[in-house]
Amino acid sequence: MDVIRVKGGRRLTGEVQVAGAKNAALPILFSTLLTDQRCVVGNLPQVQDVRTALRLLSDLGAEVEEDGSTVAITAGEITSSEAPYELVKTMRASFLVLGPLLARLGHARVSQPGGCAIGGRPVNLHLHALQQLGAELDLVHGYTEARADRLRGAEVQLDFPSVGATEHLMMVASLAHGETVIENAAREPEIVDLAAALRSMGADIEGAGEAIVRVRGASQLGGMNHQVLPDRIEAGTFLIAAAMTRGEVVVRGARSGDLHALLVKLREAGAELEERDDAIVARAARRLAGVDIKTLPYPGFPTDLQAQMMALATVSQGTSVITETVFENRFMHANEFLRFGADISLDGHNAVVRGVEQLSGAPVMATDLRASVSLILVGLVADNTTEVRRVYHLDRGYERIEEKLAALGASIERVKGARG
Ligand code: UD1
Repeated sequence: MDVIRVKGGRRLTGEVQVAGAKNAALPILFSTLLTDQRCVVGNLPQVQDVRTALRLLSDLGAEVEEDGSTVAITAGEITSSEAPYELVKTMRASFLVLGPLLARLGHARVSQPGGCAIGGRPVNLHLHALQQLGAELDLVHGYTEARADRLRGAEVQLDFPSVGATEHLMMVASLAHGETVIENAAREPEIVDLAAALRSMGADIEGAGEAIVRVRGASQLGGMNHQVLPDRIEAGTFLIAAAMTRGEVVVRGARSGDLHALLVKLREAGAELEERDDAIVARAARRLAGVDIKTLPYPGFPTDLQAQMMALATVSQGTSVITETVFENRFMHANEFLRFGADISLDGHNAVVRGVEQLSGAPVMATDLRASVSLILVGLVADNTTEVRRVYHLDRGYERIEEKLAALGASIERVKGARG
């Protein structure tokens, strides 16, 4: 297994280009199942989760032609209606093929995702919503088996603005009979991007990015040509890295509209941020101050940047209280931070982080995608060498991150096949 080795102490300087958003790319790739026409999706990040999604589409019978960050997919004939356990367990988002397969074929069989490192993560909201659109569902041997002759639009009130459930509903409602109204919908930028992709297929969707989304179903959809939006989480990670190392980095593709909650907190901590049309420049001349963070659905502070902000807090001046409200168990990185000498106490959904002057490099283990990048961030400022193991978590969602950080001046390398 690969290991990432970082020698701390270098300021990051220069320019970095953010890749396309993994979390927008996945539902957009799955929505190509809604049509038998050719769909072209560009600006895809070259990450493991995208490869898994393409493999699943091809297993289902779609033709997949890859050309760098652009992929053409034609699901002319769907030859399988099943997403197996092996795939869904490696990538929970694969569950999103259930709705499109059902809408297109009238039946589908998809493994239920189990728990994961950051909590139980049930799919009850997805299932309840599909039932309201007329799907008949059974849970058989760990699989959801779904049937419906033709899904019918309905008014669906989500108990929580789940990103996945909102995306799932928008996809199936686009091929349902009549109008669907999603109340308490998630408002993340990735929802807006999925709606744009579906609209380019001919779907009639209003209100994406707001709490009420209306979808008027069509009897069929056409092909699409869509460029995935830039990854706000990757962008935010580089902004935090620049501030932590007291560097100066131009993050190309960072969109301030999508990152407002982070920018407010970084400024409060003392970072200097310059918002340009196609980039954000982050600078910090001195040690930052601790700030409190509470994760919330968009436009609140993103849970996918919580671990990175905790990394920053470990070396900031003063105390930061970090509250996680979106996931039940998303502080696994905190225990690894202790190995660097960080001062953190955990109490349920709260982490109290007292910043220390200097951390000391250590061998550590990644537990999930965002936790793994936060360990690299700490490695950038800790003395001596840090080795991050289990980097397959990192490879699920960050494109060539060690190369990008090395180009900014970090001393970082991937050691292939090391004992992880
Ligand atoms: C998506 C993102 C993930 C991000 C999360 C929250 C993708 C591929 N992943 O995940 O990176 O951290 O949004 O911004 O886009 N829940 C239920 N029942 C459900 C669905 C969700 O109880 O049916 C709960 C979850 O357990 C979790 C919370 O709702 O506690 C948020 O989940 P959700 O917004 O659905 O996140 P995902 O779509 O899984």
